[in-house]
Amino acid sequence: MPSGCQHDLELGPESAFSIDASSIVFGRGALRELGEHVLSLTHASARVALFTDPRLASLPPIEHASASLRAAGLDVVVYDRVHVEPTDASFLEAARFATEGRFEAYVSVGGGSVIDTTKAAALYATYPAPLLAYVNAPLGEGRVVPGPLPPHIACPTTCGTGSECTGIAVFDLLATKVKTGIASRRLRPALAIVDPDATRTLPSEVVAASGFDVLCHAIESYTARSFTARPAPRPLTARPMSQGQNPWSDLGSLEALRLAGRSLVRAFDDASDDEARGELMWAATLAGIAFGNAGVHLPHAMSYAVAGLVKGYMAPGYPSDEPRVPHGTSVVLNAPSVFRWTARTSPARHLTCAEALGADVRGATVDDAGEVLSGRLLSLMRRTRLPLGLAGVGYGEVDLDALAERAIVQRRLVDNAPCAVDRERVRALFEGALDYRTGAPR
Ligand SMILES: [Fe+2]
Repeated sequence: MPSGCQHDLELGPESAFSIDASSIVFGRGALRELGEHVLSLTHASARVALFTDPRLASLPPIEHASASLRAAGLDVVVYDRVHVEPTDASFLEAARFATEGRFEAYVSVGGGSVIDTTKAAALYATYPAPLLAYVNAPLGEGRVVPGPLPPHIACPTTCGTGSECTGIAVFDLLATKVKTGIASRRLRPALAIVDPDATRTLPSEVVAASGFDVLCHAIESYTARSFTARPAPRPLTARPMSQGQNPWSDLGSLEALRLAGRSLVRAFDDASDDEARGELMWAATLAGIAFGNAGVHLPHAMSYAVAGLVKGYMAPGYPSDEPRVPHGTSVVLNAPSVFRWTARTSPARHLTCAEALGADVRGATVDDAGEVLSGRLLSLMRRTRLPLGLAGVGYGEVDLDALAERAIVQRRLVDNAPCAVDRERVRALFEGALDYRTGAPR
């Protein structure tokens, strides 16, 4: 490993990793089981909050979820005002609804925004506190969640975020124009019901954006610092969720890349290709399990700045109420630039990712690893009509300092990178991500 890439091992290196397993039901039609699962986690006539967003409110997944809950005799109240790409304001509004409702269980049906909002609503209704109390330091206080939350059953309708498997809730802190989050094992849903049929109504652009989120979860988990490169925690059991790549996360990451690499374009091209959407959904679940136990790193840390500072970019396929850079897009735009740079820390791992994604690696040497992996990502981005660089969503040289400033504060993610990075390095990585059409590696 080159010099400058060793993390501080003063406290002694970590020698063990932990596996936090999610309970998952996966398969076509699985949403029909929702009511019975909620019943088994609560009691007859329990009061249940059903969270979704305005677009989904009238679509089949919500219809099926509501029918299943009511058939089980549960007392269901729907909250359909989740903000796509949630903010502190929208988290607070959802928390108010949850507080007033005194619910015994929570169900989320939607994408990452819906699932994350439900986690936050359940948290603040159960353990009231100012919003920043539980938010990751340094932007928030990083207070520990005091105890368990009521059961949350998460039913994803996008094939991307993996939020159903993680204890992380991300939102946009409006005052600082930066995304941040709450991370606690207590936030992990009690059960994920993953039904590929629930993605049938997704516009193809949303499939692409969320599919790239899957790819980045897998590649970042696989190329994160090793769990042994982190100092042992004090106390010994206080292992962070971003514990670094480990043999468990490696398994999920590689299989997710293999499946998503061959199904992403098919799922983008044809909404009725059930096999491809099913594979992509399974890849999302595997990558979610992986990054829930390893943690992601620089492309995600940088994405929070890209999404938070959005100018006028209107994302095709998403609600047209306001400018937004969808999460998966904001992540993958940074990825080729990051992997060109991080490849030097573990070229074989980067090459393995490229091969799992379907790249032709015959004749490639370890020196080519960054270019081969980035090249494969860029060809998939081109094929699914994503912008080819940050310039495509409105950023230029003039924005590099502001972007770097907002990314470097994402310590939980930045510290999980395979190399130590400073603000200047992050700025250079953003610069390298401005325009990939020139093809010039930076
Ligand atoms: Fe993500």
